[in-house]
Amino acid sequence: MRSKLVAGNWKMHGDRAAIGELLTALKAELPSEPSVDIAVFPSSVYINDAIKVLKGSPVAVGAQNVCEYAGEGAYTGEVSAAMLADVGCRYVIAGHSERRALYGESDALVVTKVKRALDVGLTPVLCVGESESEREAGQTLEVVARQLNALWDQLSVADLGSLIVAYEPVWAIGTGKTATPEQAQQVHAFIRSVFAEKDANLSNEMRILYGGSVKAANAAELFSQADIDGGLVGGASLNAQEFSAICRAAE
Ligand code: PGA
Repeated sequence: MRSKLVAGNWKMHGDRAAIGELLTALKAELPSEPSVDIAVFPSSVYINDAIKVLKGSPVAVGAQNVCEYAGEGAYTGEVSAAMLADVGCRYVIAGHSERRALYGESDALVVTKVKRALDVGLTPVLCVGESESEREAGQTLEVVARQLNALWDQLSVADLGSLIVAYEPVWAIGTGKTATPEQAQQVHAFIRSVFAEKDANLSNEMRILYGGSVKAANAAELFSQADIDGGLVGGASLNAQEFSAICRAAE
């Protein structure tokens, strides 16, 4: 049985005071023993604050990005996977569409980041998804397949143990336009079938999250689909009550 995961991607939002309030409110709002996994992804400078406040709570902390180079070195401005693991992160997002679009991250670079995370025991959340024009051109599955196929150049099935995939249609991110449960389920089932071609166990056990304008009002219906194992939540995760309601919808 795959356990669900609800992950809050806080992007580049908040300041120390606002993040502190959000963390305190989350601790108060969320069940102390939830039946689903919950994680938040603050900006890297606030990761330490989040880990301290959430210590002893069931909420794990992740990073929104990681350096593609291993070990230490002269990589000004970067944060390594080992550093993230060292301070107590459990997850790291790789290949969010904003990083692909704004920072030119290629499929190959994203997979290198997935590999760096796996190498140090972090759980990577690999984001895939098509743009609006790609969907309109009927290329959704082709785009998602290309993004996933990049995995096999650098990783084997055995390497992928803890991988989580997040299907995030770019046209649904931050737009209020959620994919319908049927649209999302179709792509999630396709993603699972791509992994099934490599390994049935991996495919059955791998968690596939949906992301793109998830809110309390649509979460339960999305999460009830057979291949949707939770959500990667942006805007709605900045409100403790809304995010808690989404977590409860996953329970
Ligand atoms: P959204 O963002 O929920 O604000 O659409 C999702 C994401 O970017 O992960």
